[in-house]
This record gives sequence, C-alpha cells and structure tokens, in this order.
Amino acid sequence: MLSHFRALRDEHAAVAAIGRDPFGVAFDAVLSATEAMLGGRRVLLLGTNNYLGLTFDPDCVEAAVTATRALGTGTTGSRIANGTYGGHAALEARLAAFLRRRAAMVFTTGYQANLGALATLARRGDHLLLDADSHASIYDGARLGHAQVTRFRHNDPDDLRRRLRILASQPGEKLIVAEGIYSMLGDTAPLREIVEAKREAGAWLLVDEAHSLGVLGESGRGLAEAEGVEREVDFVVGTFSKSLGAIGGFLASDLDGFDALRLSARPYMFTASLPPAIAASAMRAIEAMEARPELREALRRNGRQLHQGLAAAGFGLGAMPGPIVSLPMPDQGVAVLFWNRLLEEGVYTNLALGPATPGGRPLLRMSVSAALTPAQIDAAVAAIVRVGHALGLLGVPLAAE
Ligand SMILES: Cc1ncc(COP(=O)(O)O)c(C=O)c1O
Repeated sequence: MLSHFRALRDEHAAVAAIGRDPFGVAFDAVLSATEAMLGGRRVLLLGTNNYLGLTFDPDCVEAAVTATRALGTGTTGSRIANGTYGGHAALEARLAAFLRRRAAMVFTTGYQANLGALATLARRGDHLLLDADSHASIYDGARLGHAQVTRFRHNDPDDLRRRLRILASQPGEKLIVAEGIYSMLGDTAPLREIVEAKREAGAWLLVDEAHSLGVLGESGRGLAEAEGVEREVDFVVGTFSKSLGAIGGFLASDLDGFDALRLSARPYMFTASLPPAIAASAMRAIEAMEARPELREALRRNGRQLHQGLAAAGFGLGAMPGPIVSLPMPDQGVAVLFWNRLLEEGVYTNLALGPATPGGRPLLRMSVSAALTPAQIDAAVAAIVRVGHALGLLGVPLAAE
C-alpha cells in the first residue's frame, strides 16, 4: 500500500475507534428535510445544507418523477454531445433570468462548476487571487488551469490590495475569487471592500454563492445582492446541492462570447449531464426560492435561535448568526467524542477536521434548515448543552479564532 494511504488509514481508524465512524454514516432512511433514521433510531438533521428544506417539496418531487417517466433516468452523455435536453436549456435560461445575467451554464455538480470556471477563465500566465479559506473545488480548479495562484488572508481586503499591488507590473489577467458564505464558519466575505480592491486593480471578480444562494439578499440571489454590488461581480458560481435541494452547479455571467466556455471547460465537456429528474426539480426549486421568501425568513429565524441558544449557554461562537453555526473544539479527540455523544442524543451534526477547516482547527459544524421547528431547535440546543457540560466544555472559554 502506498505509504501516505497507510498514514491516512491509521488516522481514520483512530477517529472511528472513538465510536461511530463520522465519515461513514449511512442513514437507514431519510424521513423529511429534518429527520432521518440511523441505526434504527430517529435523529434530528442539524448538519445538512438543506437551507430551504426543499428536498421533499411536493412540486420538486413531482417534477422529478414526471421528468423521469417522460425522459428516462439519465442522459448518458455530455452537454456538448447527446446530453443537452430541453430541460437543461430551460434551466439555464431560468437561472440567467433569476440572476439577472445574460447567460448561465449548468454543470453536473458545483464542484465541477468551480473546476470549469476557474480552469477556463484563468490560464497559464494569468493570476488567481484566492481567499485562503477557499473551498477545495476552487483550489482544484486553480490547479487545473495552471494560472499563478496568490492566496490572500481570509476576509482581509487590505491583504488582497497589497498582493494586487505586488502583481501590478506582471502581465496576465487577474481574477479574484471569494465566497458568499464560507461553509465551515458561516462568515460572509467583505464584498464591498473586495469590489473596491478589484476596481483599483482592474481585476475580475468571481463570487461562489454556493451557501448564500437562496439565503442572502432580498430575492435570494446571494451576498452580492445583499451588499448591492452585483454589477461589480463578473462571474457567479453556485450549486443546486444546498438551498435547491438537488445536485448540479452553474456559472453565470454577462461576459461577451460566454458560450465559448462550453467548448473549453473540461469539467463541462468530459462528463455526463444532469439527469432529467434533477434538471426538472432544480427548476421547480428556483421557482420556490423566488415565490416563497418566507422560507428565507424562517431560515434566518432558525439560525438566530440556534446561535442565541448556544451563546446563552456559554459557547464561544465566531460568526454572526446565520444558517451555519460552528463550535470550535479544543482538539480532535474532544471533537470526535462530542460528535458521537450528540448522535447518541439523537442529533446529527457535521464533524469537520483539518485540513478541511480554517487553520486545521476541529469544528462541530451545525446548519439549520427553514424546515426545522422552534421545538426541534430547542431540543437540539438542550442536547448540545448537556454534552458540552458532560465534556467540561462549558464555563471554559473555547478558542474562537
Ligand atoms: C463554497 C463551495 N463551493 C462549491 C461547492 C461544491 O458544491 P457541490 O456539492 O454542488 O459539488 C461547495 C460544497 O460543499 C462549497 O461549499
């Protein structure tokens, strides 16, 4: 066995030995947007990205079933061959209209949308300026395109400016990449200041709204809408796998000649397209996101309730109240134990360990859905507080940053 796999296997075995394997959970059944069966027991889902709770929305489910009956289970082909159906084209048109962009292209996942966007927009000789806490798909897209990567300190526009100044005399285009909401800590990018830095440097800006689509902004278009800077964002990336409750990703822009991207983005060209069921349910989910702002309001309320409940109990929390609430853990052992104890209490959360977390710090990542009831959130807070006390974490300040 290759030596690095051996090390990984040993580390994984040590984590799994503490209780249940946090990276091998397989639900027996998923009952709703908020509950599942695990090991014969009912658990509350407090670690999903199902922000608007649309996974069981009757219209989305019906659209998926109808599309499968009419068009089959899969397309068996790439978007540039036999894999584009009317549903894909309609979805792109709908997305572009929703985002107020001239064009949008749909990928099979959000991961591939970032791979395709970054690798195609910034090539060898160009510069990518990435927030240090960027999602893996952003880093991987940067590698695929061979642009020079410069990381700036997380959410630090001054550091971004400084780095842009250093690069000013170098040839090549500059593309800055930020995220609407960062997935691990739930913090938002200082987008207005990033836009200022972009303007000063004559750079381009791409915002990945994966976690902020449907969540932020009056209409749910994301952080750029909330901050009033949509016109300054050149490229929007997003996913259907979170607020829209399905799978798939997109890139939207006003760029002239946008369609040429379809013939150069390898993660678009060399993979099969979305199944008809998903194209259809994502379309319905966009309609629900537009037509039902009360879902966004419920999400906000739920995020506030979870955040306030935990803060009142004495947990040191980082970001402002939002749909993602993360508890920093003192070390990996405690994190794994906390996660297991909570599951025994009937609450499923996400265990996040380095290197996937900012600074490699272990986190218990929780996220709310609009579909959670106040009683469910109260019960979850009570369970988290019980475990926090049992593990001696309450009353002791947890390192927040
Ligand atoms: C910021 C960010 N971008 C992209 C993705 C990829 O999305 P998908 O699940 O659609 O591949 C994720 C998913 O976790 C994400 O957090």
